[in-house]
Order: sequence, then C-alpha cells, then structure tokens
Amino acid sequence: MKFYMPVKLYQEVNCVKNHASEIASLGSRAVLVTGGSSSKKNGSLSDVEGVLDDSGIPFTLFDGVEQNPSTDTVMKIRDQAVDFGADLCIGIGGGSSLDAAKAAALMIKNSDKGIDYLYEKGNPVDTIPVVEVPTTCGTGSEVTAVSVLTNHKTNTKGSIPYKIFPSLGLADPGYLKSLPLSVLRNTAVDALAHLWESLINAHSDTYSNMTAEAGLKAWSLNRDILSGMVRASDRDFSNLMTASVLGGMSIAQVGTTIPHGLSYALTLNAGIPHGQACGYFEAGYLSHADKDLRDKALSLAGFKDLDDWREFYSEVSEQLTVSDEVLSRAVDELQESKMALAPFHCDRKILNEIARDL
Ligand SMILES: [Fe+2]
Repeated sequence: MKFYMPVKLYQEVNCVKNHASEIASLGSRAVLVTGGSSSKKNGSLSDVEGVLDDSGIPFTLFDGVEQNPSTDTVMKIRDQAVDFGADLCIGIGGGSSLDAAKAAALMIKNSDKGIDYLYEKGNPVDTIPVVEVPTTCGTGSEVTAVSVLTNHKTNTKGSIPYKIFPSLGLADPGYLKSLPLSVLRNTAVDALAHLWESLINAHSDTYSNMTAEAGLKAWSLNRDILSGMVRASDRDFSNLMTASVLGGMSIAQVGTTIPHGLSYALTLNAGIPHGQACGYFEAGYLSHADKDLRDKALSLAGFKDLDDWREFYSEVSEQLTVSDEVLSRAVDELQESKMALAPFHCDRKILNEIARDL
C-alpha cells in the first residue's frame, strides 16, 4: 500500500493571508491564473494580490481561463508568464483554473517546447512551483497531480500524462459563500463522484478508503443545503470544502473510474457541467458494484438506497436528460484505463447499462 500526497495543505478561513510568507518563499515573480469573474467576486484574487504586493513580489494576471480549459489557453498563459519572467504559478478558482495552472507551470519551465509536449509521455515532471487556491467545493485539484485539458484539435478532453502536485494548497471555505446554488451543487456532486469512485475502485486500499470514507461522512452533512432547503452556515461551508479536499486526496491515490471517463463526452458534446455529467453515471456505476460496497457507499453519503440518490440527483440536476447519441459517444470514447479501474467485470454491454442506468 502507498499513500502519496506531497502537497502542504491548509484549510481554514483567511488561509491565503495567514500563510503569506509560505507563498512568498516559493518564487520571486508570479503569474496568477484565474477565470473571468468569480475570483474577483469572492475576494480570493484580491487576497492573493494583497499578499504578493505586501511581500514585494511582482505579478502578472491571466484571467481568461474558460470552463474546460484548452491546451491553447495553457500556451497563452505560458507566453505571458515567460515574457514576464514568472517563476511561480498561482491558480485561483475552480478546477479549470487550477488544472490550467499546473499545465502552464510545466510549459513555463519547458519554454522551448511546443504544445505537443503536453501529451508526450515519459518526460520528467519539471515545473515551476504551483500554489492552488480553490474557490469551489468539487475539484480537489489543489491536492491532486491531475490536469484535465480540452484539446480542440482532436476534440478530446482528458488528463495530460504528467503528475503535477502543487507545492501549496490554500483552501478557504469562506470563498464558497458567494457561489450560486447551481455551482455549489455541481461541484459538490463532483466531490461525491471522486469519493464514490475512490471507494469503488480496483486500486482502493485501507489508506485511500480512509480519506474516501471520511470525505463521504463530511459530504453527508450537506444534503439539505444542496437541496436548497437550508442556508449554509460557516460550518457547512467548511464541511463542503473538507469533502472536496478529501475527494481529491482519494483520487490522487487511486484515480477516477467509469463515471468520470463517460462524463467527458457529455461535457464536450452537450455542454453539461463536469459534476453534473459525472453524477449522471453514478447510479449505473453503483448498481453494478458489489452490494455490500454499494450499501456502504450510499449510507456513508447519507442516502437510504439507490433510489434515494437518484431522487436527489434528479432534484439537484434539474432533471437533466441526455440524448442517446451523446450516451453512445460516451461509451465509444471511454478510455480503457478508466474501465480497468472498476472493481467488477465490465464489458461493452455493462458499459451501456451503466451509461443508461439500466
Ligand atoms: Fe471530477
């Protein structure tokens, strides 16, 4: 067994300001990587900018990361950062910004390489240091080595073959307060998908189960908040962040499985947000798992049975429907490696059943 999570992680309110000196110790000129507006609204960007100003670290801001960040965006960040002479990359936002920051850190360090380098296997993982500041509660990217990118040339979405762990993760639950309920739901369902796919995984062991089970218990406390029945308190936001971080730690050990693998086609071809797209396949995945494991996964997350989960998912995803054509595409394009991580026999027939929850 092995547990490898070499990220120094702080989860607390005001953690960016509280750990200013640790951020400053990682570089002398920074590139900040974020999306359009949420990091401005929730205060995370100004917190990071304030810390860098106070520490005398010049920075350049790239605030154009889109949902499902593309390899082209990574190259734009690289160009801006190299022009500026950045030696520290700080990702701020949801999974898109955090994933883009990791890939950019690789390309900044390897500034003589072209875009194809992102997909070359076997190269050393040589990057400038990465700091990640999550502002949603799903990705867990601040504690994983994964960077999922969209390649518009090949119309594919998937992880690049480099394991890029950040040096520092700063998870402030206070940043979740300004999230719209729809984003809170989507990202929390993504965290749940990470936790379930880690627990029901061919590589799961005592250590990965330890983080997955603790994450599911934290997740279970938030059902009424995600249903919109109760307003979240500070403690609730903290639980949501804990579930997300523990989901990240779990998949960092064992990897995501079939639901994540199938989800990419839904996001790419039908524009369905990542968490919602993963959640779509969880019922089918759980129903094919060993009964004891399925019951454990459901009860740890606070669901009576599979129908209870289906009802919850239908409520939070606003009765999402997906065309049969897109589902067939998801099955056709599923990576073998995701299928291999299912701890039960899986063939094309079973994949079709999982995809359609038959
Ligand atoms: Fe995910």
